[in-house]
Amino acid sequence: MRLWSYSLLALHSLTAAALGMDNVGEAVAAWLHSSDPPQAASSPPSTRLYLPAIGVKDGKSVPECWAIQPNFTIGTDPSILGTLGVSLGNVSTAGYIYFPDDNAAPLHGPGANQYVIFLTGRGVISFPDTKETIDCGPGTNLVVVDNSTVSQGHLTNWTAGSSVITVRFKDTIPPPHEVVARSFCD
Ligand SMILES: *[C@@H]1O[C@H](CO)[C@@H](O)[C@H](O)[C@H]1NC(C)=O
Ligand SMILES: *[C@@H]1O[C@H](CO)[C@@H](O)[C@H](O)[C@H]1NC(C)=O
Ligand SMILES: *[C@@H]1O[C@H](CO)[C@@H](O)[C@H](O)[C@H]1NC(C)=O
Ligand SMILES: *[C@@H]1O[C@H](CO)[C@@H](O)[C@H](O)[C@H]1NC(C)=O
Repeated sequence: MRLWSYSLLALHSLTAAALGMDNVGEAVAAWLHSSDPPQAASSPPSTRLYLPAIGVKDGKSVPECWAIQPNFTIGTDPSILGTLGVSLGNVSTAGYIYFPDDNAAPLHGPGANQYVIFLTGRGVISFPDTKETIDCGPGTNLVVVDNSTVSQGHLTNWTAGSSVITVRFKDTIPPPHEVVARSFCD
C-alpha cells in the first residue's frame, strides 16, 4: 500500500503538471476518470483497493484477489487531501501475534473470518489443492475466510520475527468485494 501511495504521489504531480493544475485532488479525479482499469497490479494505482485473500471454492481453500467495494473516494479534508480511501467494513476484536521462531503451521483455518495485517517478517501461504502460494510481508493486509466450517484450510510458513495484527469481521461478515484476477494482487 505504501509503495502505491508513493507512486501515486508522483503520478499526481506529473498529471497535475501535464494538465496545468495546481490542485492535486482535481488532478487525481481527472486521471481516474480518463484512465482505463489497470491490466495488472504493477500499473498505476487504480480506482479500487485490491487485497489478497484466502477464499473458499467448492469446499477448498484457494488464493484469491478481492477488489474491495465501493471504489475509492478522494479525500477533501485538509488532513487527507488527495488521498484514496475506502471502508474496510465492520469489525469486532483485534489481536496481536508474534512468532519468535520459524513455524510451519499445519493445515488450519482462522478461528473466525478476519484480516491478518503483517507488521514484520514473512508468511508464505500454501494450499493442499493448488501449487499457488501467497507471499505476505510487512504491509500485506490478507483477508482470511477459510474457517473450519467451510474448508480444511491452508498451510502457513512463518519466519522467526514475524508479527501480525488480526482483526475479526463483525458477525464474521467480510467487506463487500468482487473476486478479480490474481494479477491485481501480485
Ligand atoms: C469502479 O472502478 C472500476 C475499475 O477500477 C470501474 O470499472 C468502475 O466503473 C468503477 N465504478 C464506479 C461506480 O465508479
Ligand atoms: C456496518 O454496520 C452498519 C450498522 O449496522 C450497517 O448499516 C452497514 O451496512 C455495515 N457496513 C457493512 C460494510 O457491512
Ligand atoms: C465461516 O465462514 C462461513 C461462510 O462465510 C460463515 O457463515 C461463518 O460464520 C464463518 N465462521 C466464522 C467463525 O467465522
Ligand atoms: C513450508 O515449510 C515446510 C517445512 O519446512 C516445507 O516442507 C514446505 O515446502 C514449505 N512450504 C512452502 C510453500 O515454502
